[in-house]
Amino acid sequence: DKRSFRHFMLKEIHEQPETAALWVARHLPEVVEGEATPLVALPLAAEVFEGVERIQILACGTSRHAAQVGAYLLEQLAGIPTSVFYASEFRYAPPPLSPHTLTIGVTQSGETADTLAALAMEQERRRLVADPAYRPRLLGITNRAESSLARMVDHIFDIGAGIEVGVAATKTFLGQLLAFYGLSLAFAERRVGQRQGGVSSGRSREELKALVAQLRQLPQQLEALVADHDQRCASLAHRFEGTQDVIFLGRGINYPIALEGALKLKEISYIHAEGYPAGEMKHGPIALLDAKVPVVSIAMPGAVFDKVLSNAQEAKARDAQLIGVAPECPDAELFDVLLPVPAVDELLSPLLTVIPMQLLSYHIAAHRGLDVDQPRNLAKSVTVE
Ligand code: M6R
Repeated sequence: DKRSFRHFMLKEIHEQPETAALWVARHLPEVVEGEATPLVALPLAAEVFEGVERIQILACGTSRHAAQVGAYLLEQLAGIPTSVFYASEFRYAPPPLSPHTLTIGVTQSGETADTLAALAMEQERRRLVADPAYRPRLLGITNRAESSLARMVDHIFDIGAGIEVGVAATKTFLGQLLAFYGLSLAFAERRVGQRQGGVSSGRSREELKALVAQLRQLPQQLEALVADHDQRCASLAHRFEGTQDVIFLGRGINYPIALEGALKLKEISYIHAEGYPAGEMKHGPIALLDAKVPVVSIAMPGAVFDKVLSNAQEAKARDAQLIGVAPECPDAELFDVLLPVPAVDELLSPLLTVIPMQLLSYHIAAHRGLDVDQPRNLAKSVTVE
């Protein structure tokens, strides 16, 4: 039931601190002085990790955005070359087979036809190769441990987010992100100190420990953020009454969050929205901007902070109404509206920046009086190709 919430989507957004708390309790073991505790504890066999040289991830929609954050982490934290594919494209134009490859299917429902068909195709073509280096190794990340996905893959990571009723994926997205944080930390921990081609791949153990310590703070951070942005976004919604287009900008690990912000808004409010890597604006999309097109800019401290701020400046110079998803900013003048997010390690920032994305689209759609939980033309599981 929806308890006191107006829609399931809002209830599920508010359940995310709990999703994070469960993840911390399940997967971050207590550190005992003097004992060698692993950084993360995952219910996965060693076979998932051993000898993996490459990872490919197949998914659709929101699950694909989680996969894109995951690929960033697997490459930058663990040093493993990783590619993400639209499941519906992979099936008909798969890349040439690579050896020692882990294939990950991400689907919260575990029933998405495109994702299942792509995984089945990959399994089949690898089974036909005699060389064991090419054998299929399939891992599924899902919220439904009893699904069709679970029956077809060798290994399953159950995100355990609990039932999600709203068609728009929110807490399962957070659960998928957390699965990728766990997976990439586990790969990174196994690879600490390993060198490839003369350069160290991945992070030092100290760096990984610092990230894990910050992850323990996540449930409290989310609690505060959800409460704060629920109010801020509710009072912002009326500004979008006549809006027809919105642009979402992000870079690096927050580029997939810009894509997710745009997908959420399209899906439940029927407003046209696009997510772009902020640096790509000047190569075309900037022509769309004027005072009628709000721009949401995700600007979190880290490698690309200054670049994102200057990309936001470019949008502002075209009269766009600028909404910043950023820490309380030194450059306070830049944004017309600030949706403040605490500064954390850039690698962890998607876990926070996604909250204003979800609440902004929710409140815009609810303000328009739309059926947020059952948007037109959509279903919770897309079981046709
Ligand atoms: O069940 P799945 O995660 O495989 O679903 C994939 C997409 O259909 C899904 O994420 C869709 O984009 C959502 N409605 C997003 O909110």
